[in-house]
Amino acid sequence: MNLQLNPLTPVFAAEAYGIDLRKPLDAGAVREIETAMDRYGVLVWRNQPLDEDQQIGYARNFGPLDAGLRKAYKGAANRFRHEALLDISNVDATGKIAARDSVKNIGNLANQLWHSDSSFQKPAAKYSILSGVVVPPRGGETEFADLRAAYDALPDEMKQLIAGLSAQHFAFHTRMMLGDRSYTPEQLAVFPPVEWPLVRVHPGSKRKLLFVGVHCTHIPGMTLAEGKLLISDLLEHATQREFVYRHSWSVGDVVMWDNRCTLHRGRRFDLSQRRELRRTTSSVDAALARA
Ligand code: OGA
Ligand code: MN
Repeated sequence: MNLQLNPLTPVFAAEAYGIDLRKPLDAGAVREIETAMDRYGVLVWRNQPLDEDQQIGYARNFGPLDAGLRKAYKGAANRFRHEALLDISNVDATGKIAARDSVKNIGNLANQLWHSDSSFQKPAAKYSILSGVVVPPRGGETEFADLRAAYDALPDEMKQLIAGLSAQHFAFHTRMMLGDRSYTPEQLAVFPPVEWPLVRVHPGSKRKLLFVGVHCTHIPGMTLAEGKLLISDLLEHATQREFVYRHSWSVGDVVMWDNRCTLHRGRRFDLSQRRELRRTTSSVDAALARA
């Protein structure tokens, strides 16, 4: 047992140490980390700067990697050596700070709305791992919310109302809302909308959770207006401060979260200041997801 944990809130999220993420891990260490993820949903590692290969190597311990939204941008320039390493930055493909009105910055701003990575596809995402490379002088934190604690705290009446309901999730919903109308029919075809039940069971902890977020467009079976209001009420409930951990970034931080039981969002920062994070996301094994 090498892994040590320090809870970061009374509800979820822990600081993790005792394992060097830059070295190959044995099966025991991977199991320890997965067990901690099942309990805490978010793990924060400090002072473990990962290069591109090391991050890919570490992430591959937890399942096949998925490029998420990038799948709609086949052949687009990539600053990185790996297709599965996602550039969460305000820097363009040439390394310069992206223009204020660039599509890249629409992506940054969309990330500042509460979401679960790739909830718009099936299978959806399991773990995301984000490493801090360049951090702006102010702002740019990342916040996480525990959807299991959020479910537990719902009034019984609301638990009954949402028990049989699903929401439809759509990949480009927030980006369109923020003014990006650039999507071609081919890109739209990569991500047909998917439905997820509002109440799901987290496989690792067997706890129920409230699966909402900004990728939700409507509730099938409800009027558009009522469904949108319900989604908005549930999201407001789920992201109350008592269910939230806020991460202030330092270079060399590695934050890993379980998209199946948490939401996250970036926080405001000055887009003319460099902010560079790198993400990998593992997918739920497709065969398991069908089972
Ligand atoms: C992400 C994300 C938020 C942030 O990388 O998936 O939503 O703070 N990032 O950059
Ligand atoms: Mn995200």
